[in-house]
Amino acid sequence: MSIHFEKVDHIYSPDTVFEFKALEDVSLDISIGRITAIIGATGSGKTTLVQHLNGLLLPSKGFLKVNDFTIKENEKPKNIKELRKQVGLVFQFAEYQLFEETLIKDVAFGPKNFGVEEKEAEMIAANALVTAGIDPKDFNKSPLELSGGQKRRVAIAGILAMAPSILVLDEPTAGLDPQGAKAMMELFSMLNREKGITVLIVTHNMEHVLDYCDEVVVLESGKVIMHTDKKQFFKNDQYMEKASIDPPIIISFKKMCQKQGVDFDTDVLTIDKLVDEIIKKRGKR
Ligand SMILES: Nc1ncnc2c1ncn2[C@@H]1O[C@H](COP(=O)(O)OP(=O)(O)O)[C@@H](O)[C@H]1O
Ligand SMILES: [Mg+2]
Repeated sequence: MSIHFEKVDHIYSPDTVFEFKALEDVSLDISIGRITAIIGATGSGKTTLVQHLNGLLLPSKGFLKVNDFTIKENEKPKNIKELRKQVGLVFQFAEYQLFEETLIKDVAFGPKNFGVEEKEAEMIAANALVTAGIDPKDFNKSPLELSGGQKRRVAIAGILAMAPSILVLDEPTAGLDPQGAKAMMELFSMLNREKGITVLIVTHNMEHVLDYCDEVVVLESGKVIMHTDKKQFFKNDQYMEKASIDPPIIISFKKMCQKQGVDFDTDVLTIDKLVDEIIKKRGKR
């Protein structure tokens, strides 16, 4: 299994006055089995990038390989239906795409579309809904009766019902309250840990990157300007300042301490570890 971009350009509306190069010369290997954050300013090409992964957008130049599929210029990948089963893409505000009368029917739609018989499709849907954190007593409710966060979970269940090996989430916590956003990130972390799903998350939330992701890809004006391990990424605080990235609170705290002459190891990235370090330092006085 692999995810590999090779010199990919994407141009919207080519040969018109609206022509716009949204991706330029993107070469990238995404690690299988890990959680990768895709970050960058609004308009930097994050959505464009991830929509290539299931062939929703095709490169204008270059190609990408996703598992056994090759996605290249002007040619729909062979067996695109299978590709879309393997790569689950959850759009930003995915909840707007719910359309069936009940949750269970909505989530069963995908498997049924793949020829699974109704009863079995509903069993798969029930499992996916539970995994996504929906209470079985709500299965026969209309999506309209749910909160925004719950609706988004149903949309994610619809993707999980297809048993993807790669899950791509475009700003999945946008608009959720902090608790709901955290619970959503816990769900992706669990899917990665327990089901071995490779997760790509487009996000602006640096706390989420620090707490849940393994690697970070940074886009700027359609180009990948950095792809690095999370620890390395947060070591580079000059970069964060330059790129107007609001660092996670623990990083800011460490920096303030450093200014006062108190240094912490760069590996200290959780509050628990920080507290341990502070206690150790006090002991030394
Ligand atoms: N359908 C489209 N037609 C023309 N330009 C587009 C289209 N979609 C996006 N763009 C432009 O491409 C750039 C990258 O967009 P996008 O990938 O949505 O960025 P991001 O997700 O990082 O905010 C933006 O400047 C955007 O205006
Ligand atoms: Mg976007």
